[in-house]
Amino acid sequence: MKVAVLGAKIIGSTLGRKWARAGHEVMFGVRNMDNPEVQALAQELGATVGTLSNAITFGDVVVFAIPGGAMDETIQAHAGALGSKIVIDAANRMGGAVMNSAAAFAAYAPAAKVYRAFNSLGWESFENPRFGDVQADLFCCGPGGETQLLMEKLIRDVGLRPVRLGDLSQVHLVDMVGSLWFALAFGQGMGRQLAFKVLTR
Ligand SMILES: NC(=O)c1ccc[n+]([C@@H]2O[C@H](COP(=O)([O-])OP(=O)(O)OC[C@H]3O[C@@H](n4cnc5c(N)ncnc54)[C@H](OP(=O)(O)O)[C@@H]3O)[C@@H](O)[C@H]2O)c1
Repeated sequence: MKVAVLGAKIIGSTLGRKWARAGHEVMFGVRNMDNPEVQALAQELGATVGTLSNAITFGDVVVFAIPGGAMDETIQAHAGALGSKIVIDAANRMGGAVMNSAAAFAAYAPAAKVYRAFNSLGWESFENPRFGDVQADLFCCGPGGETQLLMEKLIRDVGLRPVRLGDLSQVHLVDMVGSLWFALAFGQGMGRQLAFKVLTR
């Protein structure tokens, strides 16, 4: 898959590294293409670097790994290029009433296939999703069908097991998992090396 990763720091680099190693074509979309850290990352991975606009145009899938506070302006500025692409919203609007950007995608890029994923665990669980013998789960939501399978493949390629909570109307539920993560990791002092597993029988 051609994967555009907007943002190339903690989350963008962690996810981009996994996807490049899994054989996907990765382009990082950044504000400053001359940033030596981003150039070194791309060289290490055999990935490419472009502007946000270049990356969105390139990607079959566009992953938002930028601050939540930058989401509205970024979505609005690139609404046309986002078109009907698969979008993964990993950004958290910290301190806001709503953590996700579903409303902005609906307003500016209504044809995009928007998924909520990679927002509810710390980056450490993306880098290493195994806790002993147990594979961590990642909660996600968004439209069903073929694009869902592609999105879930990207979750599996990070090493996590996708657990779908339904279509995008379930986004609040995915965000509540993120709130639970914060409550346990920081509120209860359990630390960032923390993830979730759904058990069934
Ligand atoms: N860290 C985690 O464990 C974690 C886990 C799940 C989800 N998230 C979410 O993922 C997102 C990224 O988190 P992070 O920890 O990777 O943050 P970060 O290390 O601060 O990286 C943010 C990235 O976004 C870029 N950026 C900043 N402002 C921008 C703007 N106005 N327009 C376009 N790009 C901009 C930065 O580029 P410059 O280098 O140009 O500043 C950088 O590449 C956040 O929304 C966060 O809530 C984080």
